[in-house]
Amino acid sequence: MIIATNWKAYVEDPERAKKLVSVAKRLARSSTHDIILGPPTPFFALATERNTSPVQFAAQDVSASTGGAKTGENTAQMFAAAGATYAIAGHSERRAAGDTNDLVAEKISHIVAQGLRPIVCIGEKERDEAGRYLTLLREEIAAALEPLNTKNRSQIILAYEPIWAIGKRAADAMHADEVAEMVLYIRKVLAEYLPGKASSRIPILYGGSVEADNIRDLAAASGVDGFLIGHASADPDTFTKLIHALR
Ligand code: PGA
Repeated sequence: MIIATNWKAYVEDPERAKKLVSVAKRLARSSTHDIILGPPTPFFALATERNTSPVQFAAQDVSASTGGAKTGENTAQMFAAAGATYAIAGHSERRAAGDTNDLVAEKISHIVAQGLRPIVCIGEKERDEAGRYLTLLREEIAAALEPLNTKNRSQIILAYEPIWAIGKRAADAMHADEVAEMVLYIRKVLAEYLPGKASSRIPILYGGSVEADNIRDLAAASGVDGFLIGHASADPDTFTKLIHALR
């Protein structure tokens, strides 16, 4: 499975960042899962330094620009040079800060141009009886995939993260059978943008309050190819428990 982590701004201490990296390297060497760490930008070089382990690294977000007079921006090219092989685009916390579908598409184009794999987050704020949330998901997927050619579309990893389930406890996460329904729906939409086999190879991750208590059930019965994990990935002990729970 793909275990992608997003430390968000939970990790502010470089010593904790180093500890998380060494724990992840140890776990990666003894597990069959693909562990991808998402450190905050200032800790990126520290995290990727002298990495000979199977652990890989993802930018939490990239700039919509490609360099130049853009104070404070961190471009996809910078992340690629700093050791990233993945980049998250469209996380709901970035969307809440102003990233529209168009801006997310722009970021994805820079991510793929640098040879990084985009982890594109989609997810509804809330559910409604009329099923408008399904239309919103379809729009988010369409906006991400439409501008790309087939080769770049097949590089995408989709992370389904219902906003109402993010940052809570395992008990508030989605249940495996509910996630399974969404995976089917997402696969149906993906099939409109990629030919059969290629669309079924797009990894779909679930994110939203994945913890040691629910990861096993979700892995066993939801049909996902992995997880995008926030708070439970930002502490060495909790992260270790979570990976052990998957065994
Ligand atoms: P959470 O965050 O695991 O803390 O719910 C998931 C995410 O936002 O990617």
